[in-house]
Amino acid sequence: MANILKNKRIIVGITGSIAAYKIPYLVRDLVKNGAIVNVVLTPSAKEFVTEITLANLSRNPVICEMFDLNAQKGGAWHIHLAHEADLMIIAPCSASTLSKLASGLCDNSLTTIATALPRNVPLLVAPAMDSTMFENPATQRNINILRNDGVIIIPPEKGELSSGLFGIGRLPEPIILLQKIIDVFGENKTYQSKSDLKTGDITQSETPDEKSINFDLKIKEALEKNIPSLSDIVEKDKWNAEFEFTKLKQNFSGEKNYMSLAGKKVLISAGPTIEKIDDVRYISNFSSGKMGYALAEVAKSLGAEVTLVSGPVNLSAPEKVNLIKVNSAEDLYKTLLSNFNQYDIIIMSAAVADYTPVEKKGGKIKKKTTGDTLILELKSTNDILAEIGQKKSPTQFLVGFALESENEIQNGWIKMKEKNCDMMVVNSPNIPDSGFGSDDNTITILRRDGKEINYQKLPKLVCGIEIFKNIIDLIGNNQ
Ligand code: CTP
Repeated sequence: MANILKNKRIIVGITGSIAAYKIPYLVRDLVKNGAIVNVVLTPSAKEFVTEITLANLSRNPVICEMFDLNAQKGGAWHIHLAHEADLMIIAPCSASTLSKLASGLCDNSLTTIATALPRNVPLLVAPAMDSTMFENPATQRNINILRNDGVIIIPPEKGELSSGLFGIGRLPEPIILLQKIIDVFGENKTYQSKSDLKTGDITQSETPDEKSINFDLKIKEALEKNIPSLSDIVEKDKWNAEFEFTKLKQNFSGEKNYMSLAGKKVLISAGPTIEKIDDVRYISNFSSGKMGYALAEVAKSLGAEVTLVSGPVNLSAPEKVNLIKVNSAEDLYKTLLSNFNQYDIIIMSAAVADYTPVEKKGGKIKKKTTGDTLILELKSTNDILAEIGQKKSPTQFLVGFALESENEIQNGWIKMKEKNCDMMVVNSPNIPDSGFGSDDNTITILRRDGKEINYQKLPKLVCGIEIFKNIIDLIGNNQ
């Protein structure tokens, strides 16, 4: 995806603003993705970032002084640089540089190069300053002039400013700037939803026909479709995931989604269970609990009252989450069944052991007593999700997880129907560095309205965000 940057000549202009500290990261990422980067500083930018850092990261000399002898190669260097460029970005762009650009004033290297840029070379400008400076009519006028001249303005964000004040004026994170550059070059791939449902689009409402979903039909369709495995579908692109993560975190601090679970009670099960064989041995699985803990963190940050029922894991519970520790499938069963009716949303992300020893021996089974082989008799545990699915009220929202090693999607739909869930999160143990134990997961969300959304490998926290976005969407639209 980021190959679109390969061999692109990009001029990165930096002006005097505290936000300049973010730009070395942008330069690093551009270079990492194959771009040829030339950095130009205004004299005041040098107060915030060093030439040596930027020269090292960009692998090119940094231009600051207009009449620096090193820059004078081939005559009219600023014209050559501007004409060779595929794109120029000025970030952060101070109020003063905005004003110079708007009036065509060339009093330093950066403004000179920007003015010399041919009209067909995109110029991106990311203003960053304190709110009052940004809202000043002169600044706004200059931005409008530049926009009318064809300059692409990357708007600043709202947030805490270096002055300590809160408001508009923050420079977007480097990864957002990078994405903007990629967009301008004509490629804007974020993860794909198979159902054409893009992130941010999930508030689309359904037609009444789509609401009455026929699960048998869905399962039949899935069986007939020869659906590729999850590992075939997903595009594993860490960079993209990081971008999505940043974007989603920003959405979360935005007003739209913030506290959208206020007043809701959420019950989440997480981690493995351990089934004792005797007092020193047990049967368990590789679940780390990270997915369930991430869900608890997301639910909490959305304003819900959260109870996390967890099997033994090496994680600390997120702040202000009510943690109940359990060991066995039986403990989990008792805890959840006696509590679930108080909750609005119940998520079974625990990897519950399907079998437990029929007999739990006290003490330690001695090898002398067993000989060379030990035959353990196991019995099925209670299917907690299925039982909650049977007993839940129509207003309670139930989410199951389906771990499937083959025919993931159709098995997911089948499980969703059998266990009467409102949503099923399907994942597979076959994808490298994803799922059990990993920080990432590769999921497909199946919704009760029949939508099926595939995600590429994403950090578990991002998966948690996506899961809750879909829950909120379904609850909100009462679908
Ligand atoms: N689950 C449960 N109680 C069990 C086993 C599983 O509540 N005794 C829940 C899990 O927490 C998960 C869902 O059921 O949300 C599906 O679990 P999974 O292991 O994928 O499937 P199983 O139902 O155990 O069936 P199978 O192992 O045959 O695929």
